[in-house]
Amino acid sequence: MLVHIPEVLTAEQVRYCRDLMARANWVDGRITAGHQSAQVKRNLQLPENTPEAQELAEIVLDALGRHPLFMSAVLPKKIFPPLFNRYDAEGEMNFGSHVDNAIRTVPGTSVRVRTDVSSTLFLSSPEEYDGGELMVEDTYGTHAVKLPAGDMIVYPGTSLHHVTKVTRGSRIASFFWTESMISDVTRRAMMFDLDISIIRLNGDHPEHPSVVSLTSLYHNLLRQWAAT
Ligand code: NI
Repeated sequence: MLVHIPEVLTAEQVRYCRDLMARANWVDGRITAGHQSAQVKRNLQLPENTPEAQELAEIVLDALGRHPLFMSAVLPKKIFPPLFNRYDAEGEMNFGSHVDNAIRTVPGTSVRVRTDVSSTLFLSSPEEYDGGELMVEDTYGTHAVKLPAGDMIVYPGTSLHHVTKVTRGSRIASFFWTESMISDVTRRAMMFDLDISIIRLNGDHPEHPSVVSLTSLYHNLLRQWAAT
């Protein structure tokens, strides 16, 4: 299940983040890679412990908490602090096929996050660069993703994925993982479908008695399946 989450950040927030990043010190992206992915990862990252990276992560986390579509699609339990990466045409940066590490420990803590859902929040607009598509493999084939600045894609952490070579400009993004209250991808997708259907029904026929019964069904299913 790939879900496009539009307007996570406003144009003004994207500009603010980009200004912060322009002043920051970028390092080799292999600092957070596992053994297999380190061999295919060619990009730059902001070190997590810098003031810029921490302020940027706060901005993204705050926006996520206020985005109903993210909450509905992901049902977050724990969010790994967002990271920031850059792929430049100079150096033909790309990231070969890999699956993200299953478990991530939040640096400086003993908090472990199971990476049920992967997210990429685009901070460059598509006009700024060529290449740099996020390619995600799922049961229905491979999907190429390139979104407007401020928009985000979420996809199952179990998916093989890669980022194609950037051939012009720079591709800047935030990426992070979420442990969901529902680890099973099929159950999570059904809950999302149900939630979206209830919202649509409530919009079209707010007085319909099924709005109440379906909402109750949603919460009772969540009670059955959620690990909090
Ligand atoms: Ni990855």
